[in-house]
Amino acid sequence: MSEGSSALLAVRNLKKYFPLKRTSLRQKEQLYVRANDGISLDIKEGETFGLVGESGCGKSTFGRVLLQLYPQTEGETIYYGRRPEEFQPEYRKKAPSNEPGIDLTQLKPKEMRLLRRDLQLIFQDPYSSLNPRMTVGQIIGEGVLAHGMFTRRDPGFSEYIVAIMEQCGLSPYMFHRYPHQFSGGQRQRIGIARSLAVKPRFVVCDEAVSALDVSIQSQILNLLMDLKQEQKLTYLFISHDLSVVKYISDRIGVMYLGSLVELAASKDLFQEPLHPYTEALLSAIPTTDPQNNRKVILLEGDIPSPVRPPLGCKFHTRCPYATDICKTDPPEFVEAKPGHYSACHHIDRVGEKTRRVS
Ligand SMILES: Nc1ncnc2c1ncn2[C@@H]1O[C@H](COP(=O)(O)OP(=O)(O)O)[C@@H](O)[C@H]1O
Ligand code: SF4
Ligand SMILES: [Mg+2]
Repeated sequence: MSEGSSALLAVRNLKKYFPLKRTSLRQKEQLYVRANDGISLDIKEGETFGLVGESGCGKSTFGRVLLQLYPQTEGETIYYGRRPEEFQPEYRKKAPSNEPGIDLTQLKPKEMRLLRRDLQLIFQDPYSSLNPRMTVGQIIGEGVLAHGMFTRRDPGFSEYIVAIMEQCGLSPYMFHRYPHQFSGGQRQRIGIARSLAVKPRFVVCDEAVSALDVSIQSQILNLLMDLKQEQKLTYLFISHDLSVVKYISDRIGVMYLGSLVELAASKDLFQEPLHPYTEALLSAIPTTDPQNNRKVILLEGDIPSPVRPPLGCKFHTRCPYATDICKTDPPEFVEAKPGHYSACHHIDRVGEKTRRVS
């Protein structure tokens, strides 16, 4: 990705609230799981944007809302990958840079179907996301046929699928076999081939390697990076594992309890985290460096409920730097250094708790 690339997607104040079932007739207030609570970020054309945070912080929800697989409760998601002329005027949206874009939240299902091909998802679990009754060839070809790229009778159809399979490291003999006949790594390759066969522009990889052995993880990550290069893709790469995200991402966003707390170029985030939560996550990554005498921050307490998140800074119940203001005033998400954003009242203090002891 080159410096200053333009946005492929611009997300503004994205919220996703899941309504909770009322537990008694006397309960008047409708409660919500605030899975995504006002997220704003740009995903630049050609980059890999890594999204990290503990399990349950809202990463998968964000990936799915971005693709409009779940209806978005509030906010805008503007996609710049198509010309707005392809859509009716009321669905166009002026972008912050005055370039035209398409607000995905305003599209009707029929219009969204036009964009499904552009916007793909690679799932965490290759075991459950592949239909066991379909052959590998059928699985990979399904979307290709649905989007009218080929008809079943086209002489080039099978050749196209086999070419995609080979690109993803799958042998042609697998075409007529079933997914259960393959290992986890090969199944993930099938899932990747299925998504990439429709020639998308943007792919959400949700914990795409988390279910795999470490040795297979790096093969799949390398495959994803090669394919990105060859097909000029843009990725949102979601993982709970910071070391995986570091390996693949240009920029990284850190989420806590439905909010983005830090965003920076991957190198900057690892060199100098500017949010206490990121500092704690980084300190917990195992290292083999004997010179590294960095202290580990153990985050105490459980993650609070996203139904009634703490007031002020949501992280204050677990933050080693918290002061009174943190309990009442939510910190703003500010650009503390060029391209490096953080939401914390005490950015200047971050790093004190893990500073090397000599
Ligand atoms: N379909 C759903 N209905 C209700 N709550 C949900 C749904 N999907 C996710 N949640 C809740 O939203 C929060 C965020 O979940 P998720 O996005 O899966 O987090 P992550 O991917 O970071 O582990 C969790 O509290 C989860 O229980
Ligand atoms: S605002 Fe306060 S509680 Fe929140 S991360 Fe910063 S120091 Fe910690
Ligand atoms: Mg998830």
